[in-house]
Amino acid sequence: MSNGVYYSEYLQLDKILNAQTLESDKAGDHAHDEMLFIIIHQSYELWFKQILFEVGSVMEIMSKPNISDNSPDLFTVNHRLNRVITILDVLVQKIDILETMTPLDFLDFRNRLRPASGFQSIQFKVLEAYLGLRMNQRHGKEYYTSQLKPEDKKFIEDTEKTKPLIDLVNEWLERMPFFDEQNLWPDGWNSNTEHPFWKAYQVAYDASLLPAEKNNLHRFETLFLGNEKTTETVLSPRARRAALFILMYRDYPLLQLPFQLINNLLEIDNTLSNWRYRHINMVHRMIGTRTGTGGSTGKDYLQGALNSHYIFKEFAELTSFMIERNKLPKLSAAMSQRLGFDV
Ligand code: HEM
Repeated sequence: MSNGVYYSEYLQLDKILNAQTLESDKAGDHAHDEMLFIIIHQSYELWFKQILFEVGSVMEIMSKPNISDNSPDLFTVNHRLNRVITILDVLVQKIDILETMTPLDFLDFRNRLRPASGFQSIQFKVLEAYLGLRMNQRHGKEYYTSQLKPEDKKFIEDTEKTKPLIDLVNEWLERMPFFDEQNLWPDGWNSNTEHPFWKAYQVAYDASLLPAEKNNLHRFETLFLGNEKTTETVLSPRARRAALFILMYRDYPLLQLPFQLINNLLEIDNTLSNWRYRHINMVHRMIGTRTGTGGSTGKDYLQGALNSHYIFKEFAELTSFMIERNKLPKLSAAMSQRLGFDV
């Protein structure tokens, strides 16, 4: 045998495979399904670690003052976010494995776990904070860090102070150049006058609304045409205009990767909410309406978190302001060329 890397040492299996200590065994009352319960949680935490590694690297790229279209940056961001989505999809399916444990089997050891709970999963909370869930949006925020050790609480609070992915994407969208480039728009436009594209878009959008939807026009004006963002929103009007433009003209080569990025953010919200939904159903089946081991109201708390923890909902809402392709304002030849590959 050669002296190179050795499988079990490289993977440090001595640590991982000796990290399953059953509380029921400690009490001399062995509960068979506790092994499954521990391993499933450990494997979730390992995958959370990988997800944080990917999201952290994406945040590093998005923090650059400028992301050049002529660099691999945006492709890398999308590639890594796609990996995150694939992992999250698998994490949803893994609930099937835990559901082979019946409520009666769970009762054999459940009371020995108090007050430990998924509520104390630091990595899960860090993931939410990295993506952009704010403290004031959290369901049950009074309770949110109360179950944590002081050092974990501080770690989460410090993490929440760093700029999350949603803010970095907002800043990147704000930097989208095209609308400021005078040569791309009809003569006579300058930055002090209303932008001809958005003027035309507003008219086309208004025409697309049913009488019962006319209130949307006012919302469109507030969210897209102002200059200041409101306190309840993360996206600024400038970023929102860029995002809507990307969604509507995504067939142009230069907008394809930006479109994928927005789509990936929505997909992350989608898979995370699928996970929350499956988790709630499992919890309901396992413990009915009993309180959680972490002391929350259990199913009701989790339902509240599902409803209010969509992080990229402002991107999802953009679809309310889309219009049919054949009604879109026509772009000038110069603009069409700007959005294509150089020839
Ligand atoms: C028998 C299976 C499970 C039951 C009965 C259960 C129950 C619960 C309950 C009742 C809560 C609310 C907090 C509390 O009061 O404890 C919770 C939170 C949580 N659980 Fe589970 N859980 C189970 C499995 C899992 C698994 C496999 C994971 C994977 C990591 C997980 C991750 C979490 C997370 C991250 C939270 C916090 C969610 C949030 O604050 O939005 N749980 N769980």
